[in-house]
Amino acid sequence: MKDLTSTALRYKNGKLHVLDQRKLPGEEHWHICKDENDLVALIQGLAIRGAPLLGIAAAIWVGHCAARGDNREELTNTITLLRASRPTAVNLMNYLDRLQKLVDSGADRLSIADEVAAIFAEDIALCAAMSERGAALVEHGDSILTHCNTGSLATAGIGTAIGVITTAHKQGKNISVWVDETRPLLQGARLTAWELEKAGVPYHLICDSMSAGLMAAGKVDRILVGADRIAINGDFANKVGTYALAVLAKHHDVPFYVVAPQTTVDKHCTDGASIDIEQRSADEVRGVAGSFGSCTWSPVEAPVYNPAFDVTPAELVTGWILNSGVYDLDDVIAGALASK
Ligand code: MRU
Repeated sequence: MKDLTSTALRYKNGKLHVLDQRKLPGEEHWHICKDENDLVALIQGLAIRGAPLLGIAAAIWVGHCAARGDNREELTNTITLLRASRPTAVNLMNYLDRLQKLVDSGADRLSIADEVAAIFAEDIALCAAMSERGAALVEHGDSILTHCNTGSLATAGIGTAIGVITTAHKQGKNISVWVDETRPLLQGARLTAWELEKAGVPYHLICDSMSAGLMAAGKVDRILVGADRIAINGDFANKVGTYALAVLAKHHDVPFYVVAPQTTVDKHCTDGASIDIEQRSADEVRGVAGSFGSCTWSPVEAPVYNPAFDVTPAELVTGWILNSGVYDLDDVIAGALASK
């Protein structure tokens, strides 16, 4: 299979190199993926993360297995294993289902490898398209609040919400960004801050609990977030804490946008209540771990509730910024997402 390169993944000379996002920003460590169980562990441990990137990493591995000569049954087993690695981001299922169809049709290894390269190139193009559409909505001097990490670490391209931000910045819109830390795994503090710093975008890091005060003080002009799965009625799942931001945005009359590619829309999902929300380990809430070290701050056996995502209802969303256009609630009710 041909070489592929993004910020967080590299397929080179038949090997998949993964930038271990658990170690960022302290250490830029590239791990060479050993086998499918290793890839599942990397995905579940969030070394590889972000809805589109999960699907792309899994797709690359399937292309790799096809290229080395795995047969139809072996490829199907690998797809089944990877498909179950995380439940919420639908991009993973979308990309793997696309490859499973090819495998079922008896496609040869070259066709499967070509499809993986097409998926990779397509994600880069989807990022560019939605970023342009979103940047057109950003006004000169805007202060934008964002949550989690939705940039080049989460996609093959420039990202979704962060793609909008870096595009608006490049257009000279003089924006600044409120980056919330995104407890419990700190994707905002560790990853978004790292990306914005590299891109030269002015930002301030805040604790998650500070966003309400900022909005009350009139210091947030708009909120841009990503998504892991969008139902056709517009409800969507994203990193836990997104729903709270949407409620606050409604109360303070701050425009609240979700930015995602069409691969994040689940046409089989009618509403947010049907989205499977991943529950994660108690230790993520009892303390913290990263390249900076680790500690537990709660009683060691403290009972924990740790959903990785929450669901934001469509009525709290100002607009859905997709690669194909920007849609409001009326468009969504009229079926705009169902036809994507
Ligand atoms: O658990 P994570 O880090 O994979 O969660 C990521 C998010 O929730 C992102 O906002 C979402 O995947 C969109 S990434 C373009």
